[in-house]
Amino acid sequence: MPDSLTIKDNRTGKEYAVPITNGTIKAMDLRQIKVSDDDFGMMSYDPAFMNTASCQSKITFIDGDKGILRYRGYPIEQLAEKCTYLEVAYLVIHGELPTESQLADWVYNITHHTMIHENIKKFMDGFNYDAHPMGMLVSTIAALSTFYPDSKNIMDVASRKLQIYRLIGKVPTIAAYAYRHHLGLPYVYPDNDLSYTGNFLGMLNKMTEPKYKVNPVLERALDVLFILHADHEQNCSANVMRSVGSSQADPYVSTAGAAAALYGPLHGGANEQVLRMLREIGSKDKVPEFIKKVKSGEGGKLMGFGHRIYKNYDPRAKIIKETADKVFEVTGRNPLLDIAIELERIALQDEYFVKRKLYPNVDFYSGIIYEALGFPSEAFTVLFAIPRTSGWLAQWQELILDPEQKIARPRQVFLGYESRNYVPVEKRA
Ligand code: CMC
Repeated sequence: MPDSLTIKDNRTGKEYAVPITNGTIKAMDLRQIKVSDDDFGMMSYDPAFMNTASCQSKITFIDGDKGILRYRGYPIEQLAEKCTYLEVAYLVIHGELPTESQLADWVYNITHHTMIHENIKKFMDGFNYDAHPMGMLVSTIAALSTFYPDSKNIMDVASRKLQIYRLIGKVPTIAAYAYRHHLGLPYVYPDNDLSYTGNFLGMLNKMTEPKYKVNPVLERALDVLFILHADHEQNCSANVMRSVGSSQADPYVSTAGAAAALYGPLHGGANEQVLRMLREIGSKDKVPEFIKKVKSGEGGKLMGFGHRIYKNYDPRAKIIKETADKVFEVTGRNPLLDIAIELERIALQDEYFVKRKLYPNVDFYSGIIYEALGFPSEAFTVLFAIPRTSGWLAQWQELILDPEQKIARPRQVFLGYESRNYVPVEKRA
């Protein structure tokens, strides 16, 4: 067997040939390795899935060493330059770019599912004025499940399609309502004449004017940011989407679970930290001193730098930097940008960062743009969740249709007590 791995168990002297497929061995093939007949068999131990593929996927490809990100084979640079976010969402979910009529149909259906039930609006009113927008988003997406019991029918193609329209359509509305609730402003109903991002900006910012006028530069900038955040293969939240979905729960509660994973500062919250860091540095001339502190371990990490997968410039960071210039022509330059550019310049020449292959990641410049667009920092993770909804749904649908998948159920290495007898309370030491 040339495409196989020979494993010798030194406990028994036995040898096993395990097939290699696509550069992997099946963890279940290890189970035959036993020291006795009543032995359960060998397992692999892999906290945090550092070297375990949990699925086969055709959606997103990343080569971290080369700085490559592709959705369904298309380089992210081309998609960000030529597509709209909804076109990319179609691609990520369906596997192919839409034809003209498929795109028109897709945009029509998503646009006509942007309204939310009035009771959902009341539900959102129940949150305190200072509720975190991500907490509101997670709970409200979960609540949608109760409004659409038909979504339980996950094996029905037409039902799945409908829930996908609803989720992609309604998530920006919920996000905008959470923002307006925080400000004590009345909610703005969706406007079907506007684009996906134009409508979102309108629901956020419209005041008394009869029709919201979208600035096309800001509309396009947000669209590009949405394209860059649509999917990123098996990250923490995609894994939660698949894990909850594997129990055949409906897509609303699965998406709420994924959004909850994104809420954490190690996943979707880093751009907020970048802004805090830039403010702390305060001015360009303080950058060398700050870098010194980071290197000595005193100053914490350089936020927005480094990545588990990318050991090269994160391709998304490059595109975001270009987008920033266009946004600032409209909004005026965010003074934090000069500090960020200086920080990047010095870090990329410094041996500490070069040796460790630490480059700017997607979060390094995105927060600066979001701030220029008028978003408060608590809303940044919500701006990540809106476009990632299409990626989560693509991952979920791939899981549902994969005959090899079952309910996700990891094993454990049990190191607790063996069986012992109950001790009455008065006899416990
Ligand atoms: N600043 C300074 N040193 C760093 C940084 C940084 N930002 N990132 C890594 N290092 C050092 C780290 O201390 C270690 O040094 P040593 O070998 O001397 O111990 C070395 O580089 C390798 O780092 P690591 O912690 O093994 O790398 P990791 O793959 O476990 O962590 C990371 C990746 C993103 C968590 C980390 O780089 C980090 O905390 N960066 C700052 C936070 C950040 O920007 N997060 C956003 C990630 S992108 C969002 C997304 O795609 O979802």
